[in-house]
Amino acid sequence: MYFDPRPKRSREDLYDREAEIEALKAMRAPMSLVLGLRRAGKSSVILVALSELGHPSVYVDAREFEGELYIAYKDLARALGDALSAPLRRFPKLAEALRTVRGISVAGLRVELEWGRERAGLADVLKALDRWAEREGEKVVVALDEAQELSKLRGYDVLPALAYAYDNLKNIYFILSGSAAGLMDRFLKLQDPRSPLYGRYLERVELKPFSKEKAADFLARGCEQYGVDPPDVDAVYGTLGGSPGWLTYFGHLYVQLKDVEEALRRTVSYAVGLIRQEFENFLRGREAAERRYRAVMEMAAGCAAWSEVKRGLEAREGRTINDAEVTKLLRNLVDYSFLERRGDLYCPADPLIARAFRPR
Ligand SMILES: Nc1ncnc2c1ncn2[C@@H]1O[C@H](COP(=O)(O)OP(=O)(O)OP(=O)(O)O)[C@@H](O)[C@H]1O
Ligand SMILES: [Mg+2]
Repeated sequence: MYFDPRPKRSREDLYDREAEIEALKAMRAPMSLVLGLRRAGKSSVILVALSELGHPSVYVDAREFEGELYIAYKDLARALGDALSAPLRRFPKLAEALRTVRGISVAGLRVELEWGRERAGLADVLKALDRWAEREGEKVVVALDEAQELSKLRGYDVLPALAYAYDNLKNIYFILSGSAAGLMDRFLKLQDPRSPLYGRYLERVELKPFSKEKAADFLARGCEQYGVDPPDVDAVYGTLGGSPGWLTYFGHLYVQLKDVEEALRRTVSYAVGLIRQEFENFLRGREAAERRYRAVMEMAAGCAAWSEVKRGLEAREGRTINDAEVTKLLRNLVDYSFLERRGDLYCPADPLIARAFRPR
């Protein structure tokens, strides 16, 4: 069912995205990136690809760390332990392989990683997975959903382990997801010669918002699954844009209420609330610049050029603000998908983000 509001796990519930799923399944490079705005369907596409690949997979959704200021190794160890437990039911021999790693214990179907002195590092875990896969003639897929959240790890850097695995562990295949700017520039630092992953070829799979035509088709087919007449796409697309997540949420309400206006009203109210909450999370640790970030979002609600943002901030504060500061504010907002660059302009990444920040 297209309008099921949870991330999809099977292809029949996922509209379109055939090419993207096939690109992930082709495993053309040791590491693939799934790039997209919030609610573009990144988790869904990854989960469908993992289930169709059928290889043992280790899936970590780092979104759970979004509200945290920083992450300790302990948190990663717990998430990794949970993720490593998942494939054990189908691949019981994997438990033996994991047990041989110092700092890993396996009890029944539960994997636990030591995080203190005797901790198991990510590279050790990956090596053990690779050795097991080699023996079994398998491949192991390691998926780090919203991987850029891991840049908040304190006292531990996952990049060297990822680069080591990329170069040496040929039975491991990585799928990382995130926003283009946040994942590639901020986390993997692919442009930076000092980054462990610099110069590696990474397959990129981009999840674009639906076009108006696709949105219309998605709504029509989704409604058909419930035997409900489809809504007028102009009204829906005009308000929500092409975000698969908002369209799904709307569809879910619409097939119950059968009232376009009411379903739109509730979708907008839910979306605006969620976006504001996500913005609060973003501001954690950035309190000193909070007023500036809010001001930039208000100024950019109808799109704004860099120079307009600078002038606007200066007018509000009655003093000059240096260029690097303006650039930093905008860059962080783009990295976290609140804003998007369109040529010279900075625009809200979707119409509901604009609405969440429009001055009242
Ligand atoms: N192609 C699609 N067909 C049907 N439903 C979709 C599609 N893409 C996304 N969805 C729905 O949209 C919502 C968001 O999808 P998903 O959680 O996979 O996206 P995401 O990019 O991982 O989002 P987030 O940024 O919140 O992690 C879910 O309700 C999902 O079911
Ligand atoms: Mg997700």
